[in-house]
Amino acid sequence: MDNFLALRRSIERLLSIQCANYKEDYIKRRILSRMRLTGTRDFDEYHTLLLSSQKEQEQLRNTLTINVTKFSRDAEVFEIIRKEILPELMRRKNRIRIWSAGCATGEEPYTLALIAHDLTRLRPDVQVTILATDLDREALEKAKAGIYHEKSLENLEPGQVRRHFTLRKDGKYEVKSHLRERVRFQVHDLMSGRPISNFIDIILCRNVTIYFTETQKNDLAVMFHAALLHDGYYIMGKTEFLGREVETLFVPYNSLQKIYRKGLRSSPGSAATGAANRERTRTYPNRS
Ligand SMILES: C[S@@+](CC[C@H](N)C(=O)[O-])C[C@H]1O[C@@H](n2cnc3c(N)ncnc32)[C@H](O)[C@@H]1O
Repeated sequence: MDNFLALRRSIERLLSIQCANYKEDYIKRRILSRMRLTGTRDFDEYHTLLLSSQKEQEQLRNTLTINVTKFSRDAEVFEIIRKEILPELMRRKNRIRIWSAGCATGEEPYTLALIAHDLTRLRPDVQVTILATDLDREALEKAKAGIYHEKSLENLEPGQVRRHFTLRKDGKYEVKSHLRERVRFQVHDLMSGRPISNFIDIILCRNVTIYFTETQKNDLAVMFHAALLHDGYYIMGKTEFLGREVETLFVPYNSLQKIYRKGLRSSPGSAATGAANRERTRTYPNRS
């Protein structure tokens, strides 16, 4: 058997990562980067190391699912959420659910929590819940711990830092309990085809799909469309695009900031037929 294929099989078995879900080139590049760092010379040697070292298994998992993030990353998007999107939703409903999909170490959902906290201080009748999911368990553990270096808070106003964080003796910042209470973290694979809920007002899925194939990105957009309530918002990363096959599902709200809405015109029809059909014919072993 080809050396790379054998290694790939071990990655699937040991790390529970479906390699078929990623481009082969991407997986090879990430493995080569681990080989350089561990001083292993070929796939065989790296494979032997991976089988014997749990630490290396964790390292490779992190390398394959890189989770770089910070508070208020792309601050303009959060300004639009604060000034336009949440006020619009608060005018017409008092239970708002946000899904931060691919939340990494928690900075994105906590940013949403602090905005929601500030906006609902004078509207205690409004409840904003944030569902935050990721594939990477280690990243989610960090998210739940809620302890951050000063550097990751640099896009926040000093007043926001004072109100929402406690400065610890070790110089790190810990999110206060009123933020923790709003966020529910959960392991979830965006390639499973199943949404975390079907009653979502805002989905943020930013900087997650860069390594997905076009088909996987389209399937994801169809899944998000189904999970969103009518008139809900879908926010992508600045460098991400809605594929041709699915663009008619959403109406642009702010094209520059990659914010879309599920609108009246957007039923899964003609242009999205391929992706929508794949979604309809997908088998869900655990679905009742
Ligand atoms: C660069 S971070 C993005 C964090 C945040 N959304 C942001 O924009 O700052 C990408 C995250 O996507 C997660 N991810 C990658 N593939 C995933 C999948 N199939 N399901 C769920 N999360 C995934 C990674 O684990 C990683 O934490």
